[in-house]
Amino acid sequence: MPKEDLVNLALRRSLFYSAAEIYAGSPSGFWEFGPVGEKIRRKIIDLWRKELVEREGFLEIFGAQILPEAVFKASGHLASFADPIVQCKKCNATHRADQLIAEKTNGIVPESMSTEELAKLIKQHDVQCPKCKGKDFTEVRKFNMMMKVDIGATGQQPCYLRPETCQSIFLDFPRLFKTMRVQLPLGIAQSGSSFRNEIAPRNTLLRAREFGQMEIEVFFNPKKINEVPRFSEVENYKLNLQTLKDKSPRAMNCKEAVEKKIISAKLIAYYLARAQQCWHAFGIPIEKMRFRQLADDEKAFYSRESWDFEVETELGWVELIACNYRTDYDLAGHAKESKQDLKVKEEGCEEAFIPHVFELSAGIDRTLFVALSLALKTEKRGPEERTFMELPPRIAPYLVGVFPLMKKDGMLEKAQEIEEELVSYGLDVFFDEVGSIGKRYARVDEVGVPFAVTVDYDTMKDGTVTLRERDSMEQKRVKAAELPLLLWKLQNNKIKFKDI
Ligand code: GAP
Repeated sequence: MPKEDLVNLALRRSLFYSAAEIYAGSPSGFWEFGPVGEKIRRKIIDLWRKELVEREGFLEIFGAQILPEAVFKASGHLASFADPIVQCKKCNATHRADQLIAEKTNGIVPESMSTEELAKLIKQHDVQCPKCKGKDFTEVRKFNMMMKVDIGATGQQPCYLRPETCQSIFLDFPRLFKTMRVQLPLGIAQSGSSFRNEIAPRNTLLRAREFGQMEIEVFFNPKKINEVPRFSEVENYKLNLQTLKDKSPRAMNCKEAVEKKIISAKLIAYYLARAQQCWHAFGIPIEKMRFRQLADDEKAFYSRESWDFEVETELGWVELIACNYRTDYDLAGHAKESKQDLKVKEEGCEEAFIPHVFELSAGIDRTLFVALSLALKTEKRGPEERTFMELPPRIAPYLVGVFPLMKKDGMLEKAQEIEEELVSYGLDVFFDEVGSIGKRYARVDEVGVPFAVTVDYDTMKDGTVTLRERDSMEQKRVKAAELPLLLWKLQNNKIKFKDI
């Protein structure tokens, strides 16, 4: 489904829209989520929590969004978290130098390329300013993407809005390791907002200045990187891997990928598999996924081995999760800057060491955008065309719409009674009594509500209702009293609609 269709739907149904939109000149790259969009967003986080965080026994924290300068000195962000920019001398527009070159050459420009090399390429390829077509640019310079905030009345405490949620995880690790009665390997997770002063925010939620991340950092003893008790659960599970040598992804099971040293260790293969399984639960088809191995000059400054989890969309491959082997880079950096000893000891082992870290760092809003754009479908049925969103029930904004056929003869009250009953079972219900039944179905279909219940004259006689499935548009007659269990089973994939 083209990006424009999703953006139009998002605006028409207030799924997401620009922040401070009534003010002209509000900065771009900040987004708000309306009631339906926020429900989907929350369910994406909840599913990640259930499928990855809780299943793996990880700890979850809620860290501060503003952290002192020392944290980012230690993490390397002050020195290295910068994009190369140029300014057009004719219209003064600022652009990312690497993106201008990539767009002109249809190629990837390595993150590690120096400003001098970028300037050379701009000249060599006769790059133009996308705004005014000018060809005269200032020198390429590095622009730090962190957003600074000065804390206190005198502003003498320099702080930054976090550019990634995981720094709190590294800072909290020593305390949690001591107080939570845990052992290595230990996973710590967090979801929340990150902030980056992107030069060119674009494609709505795909490149924003404030965006959600769901991050997991797994701390482990590097000598035990191949001791993964649950590896047998994924050893035959296939990942779509695209190594540096491959032109396209190929499916390979985890065991083979480790044995052939395509993935360096069992622990890494294990978590790549868990990530792929979780994103599949968001409705993303396996054949549209790949883990792309990053070359040394593409990797983030803290990573030894990186695999980008990417999904194929009509905009090309979009990175949803950065999977990085961060070694002891962060803990060692914080130990040095804070002058604290961040070494740990494992039971039965005398030697203290700084744990290594493998991370799964996912974008919430990118996941939402990609899941929605792949789920949005149009279908011709006779002369009519319908739009529906094929979202899995667990991330749909509501599980079921409840509609009285008419407001008279007790149908409104009966439908309200059913709604209350379903809500009392913790199910997410959307109630609508306005407009024709066809229009009410269409309204819930396009925002992804998988089921609808209609209360009609027969309900008043025999207590049955019509249960309709969004994707097939099939309808079944079921007893109203059986709805809570039936809908729960449908939501949790314990039963298929066709088998009712
Ligand atoms: N802790 C590692 C880290 O933050 P990253 O590749 O910079 O790695 C991880 O970001 C994920 O966060 C990306 O894969 C993407 O899904 C999301 N992300 C990063 N920058 C973003 C932006 N400007 N807008 C929306 N999502 C973004």
